[in-house]
Amino acid sequence: MQIKVASGDISAFKADAIIVNLFEGVSVPGGGTGAVDDAMAGAITDLIAAGDIRGKLGEMTLIHSMGRIPAPRVVVVGLGKSPEFNVDKVRTLSGDLSRFLRRHRVKDAAVITHGAGVGGLGAEECAAAIAEGTIMGLYRFLRHKKRPEDEFEVASLTLVEHDGAKLAMLERGAERGKIMAEAANFCRDLANEPSNFLTPVEMADRAKALAAETGLQFEVYGPDWMREKGMGGVLGVAAGSVQEPRFIVLRYNGAGDAKPLALVGKGITFDTGGISIKPAANMEEMKGDMSGGASVIAAMGAIARLRPRANVIGIVPATENMPGGSAIKPGDVLNTMSGKTIEVINTDAEGRLILSDGLAYAREQGVTAIVDIATLTGAISVALGNVAMGAMTNNAPLLERVKAAAAAAGEKVWELPMYDEYKDQIKSDVADMKNTGGRGAGSITAAMLLREFVDDTPWVHLDIAGVDNYDRDKGVIVKGASGIPVRTLVNLALQSAEGASSPK
Ligand code: BES
Ligand code: MN
Ligand code: ZN
Repeated sequence: MQIKVASGDISAFKADAIIVNLFEGVSVPGGGTGAVDDAMAGAITDLIAAGDIRGKLGEMTLIHSMGRIPAPRVVVVGLGKSPEFNVDKVRTLSGDLSRFLRRHRVKDAAVITHGAGVGGLGAEECAAAIAEGTIMGLYRFLRHKKRPEDEFEVASLTLVEHDGAKLAMLERGAERGKIMAEAANFCRDLANEPSNFLTPVEMADRAKALAAETGLQFEVYGPDWMREKGMGGVLGVAAGSVQEPRFIVLRYNGAGDAKPLALVGKGITFDTGGISIKPAANMEEMKGDMSGGASVIAAMGAIARLRPRANVIGIVPATENMPGGSAIKPGDVLNTMSGKTIEVINTDAEGRLILSDGLAYAREQGVTAIVDIATLTGAISVALGNVAMGAMTNNAPLLERVKAAAAAAGEKVWELPMYDEYKDQIKSDVADMKNTGGRGAGSITAAMLLREFVDDTPWVHLDIAGVDNYDRDKGVIVKGASGIPVRTLVNLALQSAEGASSPK
């Protein structure tokens, strides 16, 4: 899928379909839509007058141009009420539109930059949102379909701009949006991949290939190294599996010897629950229990492509969580890299066990801040549904930065409290803490355990278990793995770089 930028008049542009837009309540369109309307002898105005086009948000009307313009088809996209219009809507509409075009078998399309004209939004932001929406919206996971039902793909979308002064901004935005979207799709490819293909070793290989392509530094470690490091958390969870665990490290260096930001992602390539085994219903979804780790790897790739003035380390402990003769059992005590011990009450609370070592390793690297990303608790979807990821922190300013990065990406983050009282729930009689905290506040007690391993390093924990996977297409979301929060993480790195270059 190619995103291009061209200068000129959209009504004269030759493509399989041209796309224009309309705000609700407008009876005589202006701008590019007006030009197309004029060239088609008022066909759009007539449809508006007849009540067939109303400009409602998401409305899509396909018109045949009957030879009046070079493009055989025109699509009019409704933008909704103009005061409510924003960049998020540009992104969402572009996602919905991309699948509309594919359904109508449009190979090469041209579009005006929604929002950047009368919408009054920034041209660069709008171009980025169109590129993101389109590339993410068209994503499909077809790797294992030997006989795909419909292989038709949209080949290109050209942003056509009459104002030559805006071209450079549109090109910059489109390029950034493309990198962001391709990173989200890379994350989706990993998370959608069945666990018999995406083993911990394969996950490391995919990270290695990405590193070679983008110039990231890549390191990978196996069980011997983990034993030297004392990583009893990762090794404990891995004990029941015949698949060897891997500890994956990616480094991006864009700011000399400045201390890096660490991104730590949960990489459970399949979560059966272990000896505390999960029920069969929906267990197949647990192939996506490495989404946090995948989002870290994908974000690192995009960061390397965008080259901000920042240093970032991506850290992913990867293992299966399986029952078996050598698996850990409830009541077992694990000795983690930090020296702290954890009593395993439930082997299905494994994410926090592997992250304890991931976080300790991040600290050992001397980082300025840590953001961890994990499909950690079912409880987070009870609290927030599939709308927002949960955030917990020991440092309010860092969370503000994460929220700003998420807002720019159109991804939603909501904070849960970390009151000291919750800590009592993870007190253990035999070890320093236990890995479950009883019935109440399951997402928070999980975060309380993680907090023990970051000490005083500024840290934000993102629980993405409610938003990593969707069961239907909507805007940039397609059925299956969501690629959340890849774009938030990339924005965080870009925004830290902006902060670093201006004096404090
Ligand atoms: N990977 C799961 C959490 C999860 C659940 C992710 C549903 C996506 C959808 C995690 O390892 C887990 O099993 N958590 C347990 C913790 C409990 C045993 C304290 C849970 O949420 O039930
Ligand atoms: Mn689990
Ligand atoms: Zn899990």
